[in-house]
Amino acid sequence: MTQTAVASKERKKTDPGTRTDLSSDAVTEISSELRKLLADVFALYLKTKNFHWHLTGRHFRDYHLLLDEHSEQILSMTDDIAERARKLGGSTLRSISDVTRHQRLLDNNADFVPPLDMLAELRADNLQLTRYLRSTHEVCARHNDVATTSLIETWIDETERRTWFLSEIATDLLGIHRDIADLLSGSQREKPDLSFHATLNPGSATPEDIAELFESISQLNRAFGGQGIVFRQIEGAPSGAQLDS
Ligand SMILES: [Fe+2]
Repeated sequence: MTQTAVASKERKKTDPGTRTDLSSDAVTEISSELRKLLADVFALYLKTKNFHWHLTGRHFRDYHLLLDEHSEQILSMTDDIAERARKLGGSTLRSISDVTRHQRLLDNNADFVPPLDMLAELRADNLQLTRYLRSTHEVCARHNDVATTSLIETWIDETERRTWFLSEIATDLLGIHRDIADLLSGSQREKPDLSFHATLNPGSATPEDIAELFESISQLNRAFGGQGIVFRQIEGAPSGAQLDS
């Protein structure tokens, strides 16, 4: 045997393809988890951008900017997830069709989604992503892959922050709508003079919110045969929000 052939045999013995001290089973399992995670993150990125582009309504600027900020944070995860799998010696996603095959979070292809529904859906998706991150963390921890668990801990923190912001906005808007719905379903509906004394939280109800709700009430008003539903007073609402009609 020549010297070159001997050297080649020696290299094969040390398995030059191995990039870490993790077992090949660990690499396979962690890479598989990271592939699904990456597909979910791409799906969430595109949905966040989709809603950023298709937002409508009075809060357009605020929500448009918030979702842009969120989409940038989500996109910044993708390269790290993919490269982590490659560092371990595993493979990662190769195409959009590969994303579709592995994603667990659902797309939303609706022509129109109301702003509140957009925020509520993103909140639920971010919450679900946190669960997926935790389960990937468990797999990595089981194999003592501390570098990946460390990255995941940061992503969980970022995802929980996005969920927090979306929760605050969505809960606030839902709360206002629920107050009005409760008000309208009360016994006062039977009275000839449908007058309501509404109390809204001054910290959460803007003139725009109230105007939007007033439009909904007008629709209900028409449904009740044109009898006047009147806001006598909106306590604590910002100036300009008093609606009497
Ligand atoms: Fe943009």
